[in-house]
Amino acid sequence: MDKMLCTDNTLEFPTTFQEIQQTQMLYNCAMREICTKIENLSQEFELNNSRNPIQHFKSRIKTPSSIGNKMRRKNLPLNYDVMRNEILDIAGVRVICSYIEDIYLIADMIMKQDNIITIRKKDYIASPKPNGYRSLHLVVKVPIYLSGEKQMIPVEIQMRTLAMDFWACLDHQLRYKSSLDVPSTIRSRLAFLANNMYDADMEMQQIYKELQNYKLE
Ligand code: GTP
Ligand code: MG
Repeated sequence: MDKMLCTDNTLEFPTTFQEIQQTQMLYNCAMREICTKIENLSQEFELNNSRNPIQHFKSRIKTPSSIGNKMRRKNLPLNYDVMRNEILDIAGVRVICSYIEDIYLIADMIMKQDNIITIRKKDYIASPKPNGYRSLHLVVKVPIYLSGEKQMIPVEIQMRTLAMDFWACLDHQLRYKSSLDVPSTIRSRLAFLANNMYDADMEMQQIYKELQNYKLE
């Protein structure tokens, strides 16, 4: 198929419809694989344990225009191969856990699975971003078996507590609605709130542990 410059709802750089369809298909498969793994863990916790560390999870495929914007922002050459190699969050899964320790528990359970390769781990809980953002980010590759070959496809997994998710969702919304430059006073109020969320997370976890001890007595 001829290369063509696609517009609306496409990758916005020379690509073929076949490449776009192939991308959607591959990354959807990879996202489903990860979601199945998380769903399996969740179901096992429901069956065998008194509580499920996974509150909920959701997934999304990055829209073609958002992929294009990110590549421009990163000054990447706009072509299909660069996209496949450099954009690691085309498939994204977000896992919301109850407590901070649950995040590391579930992350380890995912990372030690045989057919998963972890290619990146960013711990924004141990080292929060300057604005206060906290989450654990993994990029893993999963094998997708097509009729003729195997392809390793990256999926970004963001893991957070409910409190971190509350902050990140509203932070995202606020910055999206407002102009790019957020006044520094507002930035520090948001950072202050993020720290409050962290304190609340730590206190909830502590309470949970103390109640566990009561139950054991
Ligand atoms: P991106 O180009 O943003 O993907 O940068 P990156 O590839 O270096 O990844 P990074 O680890 O910085 O974060 C990737 C994703 O984490 C973003 O797409 C957001 O979903 C989330 N994220 C990172 N920082 C923030 C933040 O300050 N606020 C919110 N709400 N989300 C954030
Ligand atoms: Mg991203």
